[in-house]
Amino acid sequence: MNRSTAYLVCALAIGGAAVGCDKPEREAGEATPETTSATTPADQPAPAAGAPERTEKPTQSEATFTPPPESEIPDNEYGQTVLQGKNLFVNTQQYAKGYVGNGMNCTNCHLDNGRQANSAPLWAAYVLYPAYRKKTGQVDTIQSRIQGCFLYSMNGRPPALDSKEMTALVTYHYWLAKGAPTGVKLPGQGYLSLPKPEQTPDITRGRDVYQNNCAICHGANGEGMQAKGTYAFPPLWGKDSFNWGAGMHRIDTAAGFIKANMPYGLGGTLSDQEAWDVALFMNSHERPQDPRRTGKSLAQTRDQFHDENCLYGRTPEELAAALQKKQAQAKPGAADDNATPPVDPLPSGYSPAKSHELPPTPAR
Ligand code: HEC
Ligand code: HEC
Repeated sequence: MNRSTAYLVCALAIGGAAVGCDKPEREAGEATPETTSATTPADQPAPAAGAPERTEKPTQSEATFTPPPESEIPDNEYGQTVLQGKNLFVNTQQYAKGYVGNGMNCTNCHLDNGRQANSAPLWAAYVLYPAYRKKTGQVDTIQSRIQGCFLYSMNGRPPALDSKEMTALVTYHYWLAKGAPTGVKLPGQGYLSLPKPEQTPDITRGRDVYQNNCAICHGANGEGMQAKGTYAFPPLWGKDSFNWGAGMHRIDTAAGFIKANMPYGLGGTLSDQEAWDVALFMNSHERPQDPRRTGKSLAQTRDQFHDENCLYGRTPEELAAALQKKQAQAKPGAADDNATPPVDPLPSGYSPAKSHELPPTPAR
């Protein structure tokens, strides 16, 4: 096991106790799952030939709600607004250009036009708001949630609450939730919450998982793949990807998304360990600045908004040191065991994120 990452990962191990980050957790008194069961979806494609044997059961929760089919969108003014919302969601680059600062579309992370369970489906989201969120420290409505994804995931400028874009998007969310119970956390909501990995997540192993399972679509350098000026496969890092404030920059959130949904069409085929490793590798690269950094130093921004579930403002070595310090505080008297560990060399060609070298992204 690579020792530098052994410490790094503790990040992940102690994630539950971490403070200050934008953990997408709900507060006490909020909706709890009705039913959750570990099942293998019947339509899960078989792993590609030559893929390593998978022994773990997918931790997929079984969706019990089916959104209405698109053929049921009514042929009237309301239906037209539903369709506008769908277009905005699926082709955000075209329909909401002025609000987007990267190469993403909403549906890149909310798959199947926002319908797919365990990929933060819109039908499950709609019925959970208004809700209190730690990230914002207030009760958020579905509108402010959508604004948040514009600001962070789309690295952009959110449309106003009374804009026609916001009205259309909310209408599309609402329509997909037709018939769903309100205030209930439906199975399939959000992203999978993966159990802690057996081995500390490791950048070197993650790079191998990436090269073998992801690079073919997302590119050797996470740059995605374009056809006629638009992304056929979205970028995973770099200037056109989500920024350092987005939920997907968290290693745990990314691992859950990847486990259930990637490689595209083969969700559930990576082991949990592979999902953690590749999530760490993906989120160790550079991406647009956290827009909350304005006027604050990198360290202040990190301490205020980021916990040890991410590499914001820290090199892997610095994160290892921070975790080590935390461990030492937790175990007084064990100081001798906590001497700085030797740091293994990182893979050749690997360039760690230097988020402190990028200026805050200007509003577009
Ligand atoms: C067969 C092609 C393909 C492969 C292989 C693949 N992906 Fe994807 N990935 C996609 C597509 C297509 C989307 C966007 C889905 C959509 O818009 O409906 C996507 C979306 C994503 C996203 C969310 C959007 C973004 O750009 O951040 C992440 C993260 C991601 N993939 C990670 C991975 C990882 C990690 C692997 C390897 C384990 C992987 N993908 C393998 C095609 C692929
Ligand atoms: C880079 C991936 C990504 C993109 C692109 C993205 N989102 Fe999200 N979205 C997330 C993540 C991750 C979460 C939830 C996790 C969190 O809170 O950290 C989320 C949460 C949400 C939620 C709340 C879901 C729930 O169950 O509570 C809504 C609604 C939403 N997004 C709408 C949108 C809209 C609208 C767009 C386009 C303007 C968009 N998202 C683009 C990743 C993305």
